[in-house]
Amino acid sequence: MAQLSLLPLFISFSCAFISGVLSGSFTLTNNCAYTVWPGVLSNAGSTPLTVTGFSLQKGESKTLSAPSGWAGRFWGRTICNEDSSGKFSCVTGDCGSGKLECAGSGAAPPATLAEFKLDGANGLDFYDVSLVDGYNLPMLVVPQGGSGNCSVTGCLVDLNEACPSDLRVLGEDGSENVACKSACEAFGDPQYCCSGAYGNPNTCKPSTYSQYFKHACPRAYSYAYDDGTSTFTCASADYVITFCPPISTSQKASSSTSSHPQAADTLPLVNSSMVFVGGEELTSRAEPQAAGSRLLSLSVVLMAMIWQTRLLHLLF
Ligand SMILES: *[C@@H]1O[C@H](CO)[C@@H](O)[C@H](O)[C@H]1NC(C)=O
Ligand SMILES: *[C@@H]1O[C@H](CO)[C@@H](O)[C@H](O)[C@H]1NC(C)=O
Repeated sequence: MAQLSLLPLFISFSCAFISGVLSGSFTLTNNCAYTVWPGVLSNAGSTPLTVTGFSLQKGESKTLSAPSGWAGRFWGRTICNEDSSGKFSCVTGDCGSGKLECAGSGAAPPATLAEFKLDGANGLDFYDVSLVDGYNLPMLVVPQGGSGNCSVTGCLVDLNEACPSDLRVLGEDGSENVACKSACEAFGDPQYCCSGAYGNPNTCKPSTYSQYFKHACPRAYSYAYDDGTSTFTCASADYVITFCPPISTSQKASSSTSSHPQAADTLPLVNSSMVFVGGEELTSRAEPQAAGSRLLSLSVVLMAMIWQTRLLHLLF
């Protein structure tokens, strides 16, 4: 009995710990039908996270905590293998370390990136999902328990299937598109790369290529100066990053509780007129359930079970 009555206390303690006291945690969830190998790169001058690469099987999640002020990026590697000499490599998002851990190396483009700067100007976290280096996987970023605008962002659509032919990356057997390059990577043209004479927002404009990405994923960065509609802020949040999130037409325009929505909030997360690709069915599923609320319902169930047990003990 003594142990039983301590358990609810312990559970509420752990919940409080997980949901608030930890500053800056990232939960990566693989909702894809295949294994994804996330990579992590900390920005120069930022304390690196203890983990820089790992595997996530279908349905698996992993939570990493980040020191305050951390800045860096997450991405997913796909179709990874270890060869007979023990060298690890991936067809998309490879970091070239030859190992599971990226250990300070970034993703080879094309790769969808989730970028973060915690505790920046005005104490806000800045975050975005970027297709500036191309696209390899659908990704969703959901802030949890923060205050401020805290919009959900990401690129939910499978852009590989419908990738323009000159941007396509084919898999090893050549039968399917495994990634979609940025026009900068495909053609190296300063106009697409926003370099040289095009190195400022006045001269570097969206191209028909960047618009392919922008139309499908209105909240994601589609080229280097796409800031106005692609950067989001939130204070003191934890973040859930989902690979292959479920697509929903009822996806709210914003998770915001703020009366001053960010400019990008006016853009839909999914352009429903573009959801044709990858045979991905539009579902009427609700917004992806947040890990926090899942944890909460789990603890509610546990509490209920404990009380029931106690009640049974009292009765018999
Ligand atoms: C949605 O896609 C259509 C067709 O490509 C495009 O014309 C429209 O601008 C897109 N909407 C947004 C908000 O990006
Ligand atoms: C929300 O975003 C708007 C527009 O970017 C900004 O002016 C406002 O300060 C933000 N609100 C908070 C609480 O950060």
